[in-house]
Amino acid sequence: MVVEPARPFDWNGPNGDRWVANQARLDRMLAPFGDALIAAADPRAGERALDIGCGAGASTFDLADAIGPRGQAVGLDISAALVARAETLGAERRSAAAFRLADAATADFAPEFDLVVSRFGVMFFDDPVGAFRNIRKAMRPGARLAFVCWRGAEENDWTQLPMQAIRDIAPPAPPPPPDAPGPFAFADRRRVAAILAEAGFVDIVVEALDHSIVFGAGDTRDTAIDDALANAVSVGPLERALAGCDAATTARAMAAARVAYARKAVPEGVVIAGAAWIVRARSA
Ligand SMILES: C[S@@+](CC[C@H](N)C(=O)[O-])C[C@H]1O[C@@H](n2cnc3c(N)ncnc32)[C@H](O)[C@@H]1O
Repeated sequence: MVVEPARPFDWNGPNGDRWVANQARLDRMLAPFGDALIAAADPRAGERALDIGCGAGASTFDLADAIGPRGQAVGLDISAALVARAETLGAERRSAAAFRLADAATADFAPEFDLVVSRFGVMFFDDPVGAFRNIRKAMRPGARLAFVCWRGAEENDWTQLPMQAIRDIAPPAPPPPPDAPGPFAFADRRRVAAILAEAGFVDIVVEALDHSIVFGAGDTRDTAIDDALANAVSVGPLERALAGCDAATTARAMAAARVAYARKAVPEGVVIAGAAWIVRARSA
Protein backbone atom coordinates (compact mmCIF):
# COMPACT_ATOMS: atom_id res chain seq x y z
CA MET A 1 0.00 0.00 0.00
CA VAL A 2 2.85 2.38 -0.67
CA VAL A 3 1.75 5.27 -2.88
CA GLU A 4 4.03 7.63 -4.73
CA PRO A 5 2.40 9.17 -7.76
CA ALA A 6 5.35 11.27 -8.84
CA ARG A 7 8.26 8.82 -8.60
CA PRO A 8 8.69 5.28 -9.92
CA PHE A 9 8.47 2.42 -7.46
CA ASP A 10 11.88 1.39 -6.26
CA TRP A 11 11.45 -2.10 -4.86
CA ASN A 12 15.18 -2.42 -4.29
CA GLY A 13 15.22 0.85 -2.36
CA PRO A 14 12.89 2.61 0.09
CA ASN A 15 9.75 0.85 -1.15
CA GLY A 16 11.13 -2.62 -0.52
CA ASP A 17 12.56 -1.55 2.85
CA ARG A 18 9.17 -0.18 3.95
CA TRP A 19 7.45 -3.42 2.97
CA VAL A 20 9.98 -5.44 4.93
CA ALA A 21 9.67 -3.19 7.98
CA ASN A 22 5.87 -3.45 7.92
CA GLN A 23 5.55 -7.02 6.66
CA ALA A 24 3.52 -8.46 9.53
CA ARG A 25 1.05 -5.57 9.51
CA LEU A 26 0.69 -5.63 5.71
CA ASP A 27 0.13 -9.39 5.72
CA ARG A 28 -2.64 -8.96 8.30
CA MET A 29 -4.33 -6.23 6.26
CA LEU A 30 -4.02 -8.03 2.93
CA ALA A 31 -4.93 -11.51 4.20
CA PRO A 32 -8.60 -11.37 3.09
CA PHE A 33 -7.52 -10.45 -0.43
CA GLY A 34 -4.92 -13.23 -0.41
CA ASP A 35 -7.51 -15.74 0.78
CA ALA A 36 -9.85 -14.73 -2.04
CA LEU A 37 -6.97 -15.04 -4.50
CA ILE A 38 -6.09 -18.57 -3.39
CA ALA A 39 -9.76 -19.57 -3.60
CA ALA A 40 -9.95 -18.21 -7.16
CA ALA A 41 -6.63 -19.83 -8.14
CA ASP A 42 -7.81 -23.23 -6.86
CA PRO A 43 -4.34 -24.78 -6.36
CA ARG A 44 -4.40 -28.57 -6.54
CA ALA A 45 -2.24 -31.21 -4.90
CA GLY A 46 0.92 -31.91 -6.88
CA GLU A 47 0.82 -28.79 -9.06
CA ARG A 48 3.72 -26.45 -9.77
CA ALA A 49 2.74 -22.85 -9.00
CA LEU A 50 4.54 -19.53 -9.46
CA ASP A 51 3.77 -16.43 -7.36
CA ILE A 52 4.73 -13.23 -9.20
CA GLY A 53 5.83 -10.26 -7.07
CA CYS A 54 5.61 -12.54 -4.04
CA GLY A 55 7.05 -9.98 -1.62
CA ALA A 56 7.61 -11.60 1.78
CA GLY A 57 5.90 -14.75 0.55
CA ALA A 58 2.50 -14.90 2.28
CA SER A 59 0.66 -16.15 -0.80
CA THR A 60 3.55 -18.47 -1.76
CA PHE A 61 3.28 -20.15 1.65
CA ASP A 62 -0.47 -20.61 1.14
CA LEU A 63 0.19 -22.12 -2.28
CA ALA A 64 2.81 -24.50 -0.89
CA ASP A 65 0.40 -25.65 1.82
CA ALA A 66 -2.36 -26.29 -0.73
CA ILE A 67 -0.13 -28.04 -3.25
CA GLY A 68 1.59 -30.36 -0.79
CA PRO A 69 4.87 -32.24 -1.03
CA ARG A 70 4.34 -33.69 -4.51
CA GLY A 71 4.19 -30.21 -6.07
CA GLN A 72 6.22 -27.02 -5.78
CA ALA A 73 5.38 -23.39 -5.02
CA VAL A 74 7.92 -20.80 -6.20
CA GLY A 75 7.78 -17.12 -5.24
CA LEU A 76 9.52 -14.67 -7.56
CA ASP A 77 10.27 -11.06 -6.74
CA ILE A 78 12.48 -8.25 -7.98
CA SER A 79 13.28 -7.01 -4.44
CA ALA A 80 16.34 -8.57 -2.78
CA ALA A 81 15.17 -7.38 0.65
CA LEU A 82 11.72 -8.96 0.25
CA VAL A 83 13.06 -12.24 -1.12
CA ALA A 84 15.44 -12.41 1.85
CA ARG A 85 12.49 -11.81 4.18
CA ALA A 86 10.45 -14.50 2.43
CA GLU A 87 13.30 -17.00 2.81
CA THR A 88 13.63 -16.21 6.53
CA LEU A 89 9.88 -16.59 7.11
CA GLY A 90 9.84 -19.77 5.03
CA ALA A 91 12.59 -21.32 7.15
CA GLU A 92 10.75 -20.31 10.36
CA ARG A 93 7.54 -21.98 9.26
CA ARG A 94 9.35 -24.92 7.59
CA SER A 95 7.58 -24.15 4.32
CA ALA A 96 8.40 -26.10 1.18
CA ALA A 97 8.11 -22.87 -0.84
CA ALA A 98 11.17 -21.78 -2.84
CA PHE A 99 12.04 -18.21 -3.77
CA ARG A 100 13.76 -16.63 -6.74
CA LEU A 101 15.12 -13.10 -7.15
CA ALA A 102 14.24 -11.92 -10.67
CA ASP A 103 12.31 -9.38 -12.73
CA ALA A 104 9.15 -11.14 -13.93
CA ALA A 105 9.17 -9.00 -17.07
CA THR A 106 12.53 -10.31 -18.26
CA ALA A 107 13.23 -13.51 -16.28
CA ASP A 108 14.33 -16.52 -18.29
CA PHE A 109 11.37 -18.91 -17.89
CA ALA A 110 10.74 -22.49 -19.00
CA PRO A 111 7.12 -23.71 -19.44
CA GLU A 112 6.95 -25.64 -16.17
CA PHE A 113 4.07 -24.13 -14.14
CA ASP A 114 0.42 -25.23 -13.99
CA LEU A 115 -0.62 -22.10 -12.11
CA VAL A 116 0.61 -18.51 -11.83
CA VAL A 117 -0.77 -16.21 -9.12
CA SER A 118 -0.05 -12.77 -7.75
CA ARG A 119 -1.23 -10.80 -4.74
CA PHE A 120 -0.87 -7.14 -5.78
CA GLY A 121 2.43 -7.85 -7.58
CA VAL A 122 1.63 -7.31 -11.28
CA MET A 123 0.72 -3.60 -11.48
CA PHE A 124 4.27 -2.26 -11.61
CA PHE A 125 5.42 -3.28 -15.11
CA ASP A 126 6.53 -0.54 -17.50
CA ASP A 127 5.36 -2.72 -20.39
CA PRO A 128 2.54 -4.91 -19.03
CA VAL A 129 1.85 -6.72 -22.32
CA GLY A 130 5.54 -7.59 -22.69
CA ALA A 131 5.73 -8.67 -19.04
CA PHE A 132 2.66 -10.94 -19.28
CA ARG A 133 4.00 -12.41 -22.54
CA ASN A 134 7.16 -13.26 -20.66
CA ILE A 135 5.19 -14.71 -17.73
CA ARG A 136 3.34 -16.94 -20.21
CA LYS A 137 6.70 -18.52 -21.06
CA ALA A 138 6.67 -19.97 -17.52
CA MET A 139 3.27 -21.59 -18.10
CA ARG A 140 2.38 -24.96 -19.55
CA PRO A 141 -0.23 -24.82 -22.36
CA GLY A 142 -3.62 -24.22 -20.72
CA ALA A 143 -2.08 -23.26 -17.36
CA ARG A 144 -4.13 -20.99 -15.10
CA LEU A 145 -3.44 -17.38 -14.11
CA ALA A 146 -5.08 -15.70 -11.10
CA PHE A 147 -4.19 -12.39 -9.52
CA VAL A 148 -5.65 -9.72 -7.28
CA CYS A 149 -5.06 -6.02 -8.00
CA TRP A 150 -6.54 -2.78 -6.69
CA ARG A 151 -9.50 -1.06 -8.31
CA GLY A 152 -9.41 2.76 -8.45
CA ALA A 153 -7.87 4.99 -5.78
CA GLU A 154 -11.26 6.65 -5.26
CA GLU A 155 -12.70 3.31 -4.06
CA ASN A 156 -9.82 2.49 -1.73
CA ASP A 157 -9.88 4.18 1.65
CA TRP A 158 -6.26 3.30 2.43
CA THR A 159 -5.27 6.10 0.06
CA GLN A 160 -8.51 8.04 -0.47
CA LEU A 161 -9.35 8.70 3.17
CA PRO A 162 -6.11 10.38 4.30
CA MET A 163 -5.56 12.17 1.00
CA GLN A 164 -9.06 13.67 1.06
CA ALA A 165 -8.57 14.69 4.68
CA ILE A 166 -5.39 16.67 3.94
CA ARG A 167 -6.18 17.97 0.46
CA ASP A 168 -6.82 21.58 1.55
CA ILE A 169 -3.83 21.58 3.90
CA ALA A 170 -1.18 19.88 1.78
CA PRO A 171 -2.49 19.81 -1.81
CA PRO A 172 -1.55 16.54 -3.53
CA ALA A 173 0.82 16.25 -6.48
CA PRO A 174 -0.97 15.88 -9.82
CA PRO A 175 -2.09 12.28 -10.26
CA PRO A 176 -0.04 10.09 -12.62
CA PRO A 177 -1.50 9.05 -15.98
CA PRO A 178 -4.01 6.23 -15.33
CA ASP A 179 -1.79 3.71 -17.15
CA ALA A 180 1.37 4.57 -15.19
CA PRO A 181 2.90 1.63 -13.27
CA GLY A 182 1.72 1.68 -9.67
CA PRO A 183 -0.92 0.24 -7.35
CA PHE A 184 -3.81 1.59 -9.44
CA ALA A 185 -2.45 0.78 -12.90
CA PHE A 186 -5.05 -1.99 -13.28
CA ALA A 187 -8.02 0.01 -12.01
CA ASP A 188 -9.71 -0.19 -15.42
CA ARG A 189 -10.95 -3.74 -15.87
CA ARG A 190 -11.18 -3.33 -19.66
CA ARG A 191 -7.50 -2.38 -19.78
CA VAL A 192 -6.59 -5.44 -17.70
CA ALA A 193 -8.54 -7.73 -20.01
CA ALA A 194 -7.00 -6.10 -23.11
CA ILE A 195 -3.46 -6.48 -21.74
CA LEU A 196 -3.99 -10.16 -21.00
CA ALA A 197 -5.64 -10.84 -24.38
CA GLU A 198 -2.78 -9.14 -26.22
CA ALA A 199 -0.29 -11.16 -24.18
CA GLY A 200 -1.94 -14.41 -25.31
CA PHE A 201 -4.32 -15.28 -22.47
CA VAL A 202 -7.85 -16.59 -22.99
CA ASP A 203 -10.95 -17.17 -20.83
CA ILE A 204 -10.32 -13.85 -19.06
CA VAL A 205 -12.65 -13.12 -16.13
CA VAL A 206 -12.42 -9.95 -14.01
CA GLU A 207 -14.59 -9.86 -10.88
CA ALA A 208 -14.96 -7.22 -8.19
CA LEU A 209 -13.86 -8.04 -4.66
CA ASP A 210 -14.88 -5.65 -1.89
CA HIS A 211 -13.44 -6.29 1.54
CA SER A 212 -12.95 -4.18 4.62
CA ILE A 213 -9.44 -3.63 5.98
CA VAL A 214 -8.66 -3.28 9.69
CA PHE A 215 -6.32 -0.32 9.25
CA GLY A 216 -5.88 0.51 12.93
CA ALA A 217 -6.05 -1.73 15.98
CA GLY A 218 -5.69 -1.16 19.72
CA ASP A 219 -7.09 -1.80 23.15
CA THR A 220 -9.10 1.41 23.08
CA ARG A 221 -10.75 3.53 20.43
CA ASP A 222 -8.03 6.17 20.79
CA THR A 223 -5.15 3.72 20.45
CA ALA A 224 -6.79 2.18 17.37
CA ILE A 225 -7.09 5.63 15.78
CA ASP A 226 -3.46 6.43 16.67
CA ASP A 227 -2.45 3.11 15.14
CA ALA A 228 -4.30 3.93 11.91
CA LEU A 229 -2.53 7.28 11.73
CA ALA A 230 0.86 5.63 12.29
CA ASN A 231 -0.05 3.09 9.62
CA ALA A 232 -0.90 5.83 7.12
CA VAL A 233 2.56 7.29 7.69
CA SER A 234 4.51 4.02 7.59
CA VAL A 235 2.72 2.08 4.83
CA GLY A 236 0.07 4.47 3.53
CA PRO A 237 0.46 7.64 1.55
CA LEU A 238 0.93 10.23 4.30
CA GLU A 239 4.70 10.18 4.71
CA ARG A 240 5.25 10.91 1.05
CA ALA A 241 2.36 13.34 0.79
CA LEU A 242 3.77 15.38 3.66
CA ALA A 243 7.43 15.19 2.63
CA GLY A 244 8.74 18.73 2.41
CA CYS A 245 5.90 20.27 4.44
CA ASP A 246 6.85 22.42 7.44
CA ALA A 247 6.10 21.24 10.96
CA ALA A 248 2.96 23.34 11.37
CA THR A 249 1.45 22.12 8.10
CA THR A 250 2.33 18.52 8.95
CA ALA A 251 0.70 18.85 12.37
CA ARG A 252 -2.50 20.28 10.86
CA ALA A 253 -2.60 17.56 8.21
CA MET A 254 -2.07 14.81 10.78
CA ALA A 255 -4.87 16.24 12.93
CA ALA A 256 -7.22 16.29 9.93
CA ALA A 257 -6.32 12.69 9.03
CA ARG A 258 -6.90 11.65 12.64
CA VAL A 259 -10.43 13.08 12.49
CA ALA A 260 -11.06 11.10 9.30
CA TYR A 261 -9.86 7.84 10.90
CA ALA A 262 -11.91 8.55 14.03
CA ARG A 263 -15.04 8.47 11.84
CA LYS A 264 -14.13 4.88 10.86
CA ALA A 265 -13.56 3.64 14.41
CA VAL A 266 -15.75 0.68 15.40
CA PRO A 267 -15.30 -1.89 18.17
CA GLU A 268 -13.00 -4.00 15.91
CA GLY A 269 -10.67 -1.04 15.30
CA VAL A 270 -10.42 1.49 12.46
CA VAL A 271 -12.08 -0.35 9.59
CA ILE A 272 -11.86 1.04 6.07
CA ALA A 273 -13.06 0.00 2.61
CA GLY A 274 -10.88 -1.96 0.20
CA ALA A 275 -11.78 -2.56 -3.45
CA ALA A 276 -9.96 -4.99 -5.73
CA TRP A 277 -10.32 -7.06 -8.87
CA ILE A 278 -9.86 -10.80 -8.88
CA VAL A 279 -8.62 -11.70 -12.35
CA ARG A 280 -8.53 -15.18 -13.80
CA ALA A 281 -7.34 -16.38 -17.22
CA ARG A 282 -5.67 -19.28 -18.99
CA SER A 283 -2.57 -19.39 -21.12
CA ALA A 284 -3.61 -20.26 -24.67
C1 LIG B 1 2.52 -4.37 -3.50
S1 LIG B 1 3.84 -5.48 -3.27
C2 LIG B 1 3.01 -7.02 -2.97
C3 LIG B 1 3.91 -8.02 -2.32
C4 LIG B 1 3.24 -9.36 -1.96
N1 LIG B 1 2.70 -10.02 -3.13
C5 LIG B 1 2.18 -9.16 -0.93
O1 LIG B 1 0.98 -9.23 -1.24
O2 LIG B 1 2.53 -8.93 0.24
C6 LIG B 1 4.41 -5.64 -4.93
C7 LIG B 1 5.53 -6.63 -5.09
O3 LIG B 1 5.82 -6.79 -6.48
C8 LIG B 1 7.22 -6.86 -6.64
N2 LIG B 1 7.54 -6.48 -8.02
C9 LIG B 1 7.35 -5.28 -8.61
N3 LIG B 1 7.76 -5.31 -9.88
C10 LIG B 1 8.23 -6.57 -10.11
C11 LIG B 1 8.79 -7.24 -11.24
N4 LIG B 1 8.97 -6.61 -12.41
N5 LIG B 1 9.16 -8.53 -11.11
C12 LIG B 1 9.01 -9.18 -9.92
N6 LIG B 1 8.48 -8.60 -8.82
C13 LIG B 1 8.09 -7.32 -8.92
C14 LIG B 1 7.75 -5.91 -5.59
O4 LIG B 1 9.11 -6.09 -5.30
C15 LIG B 1 6.83 -6.19 -4.43
O5 LIG B 1 7.31 -7.23 -3.62
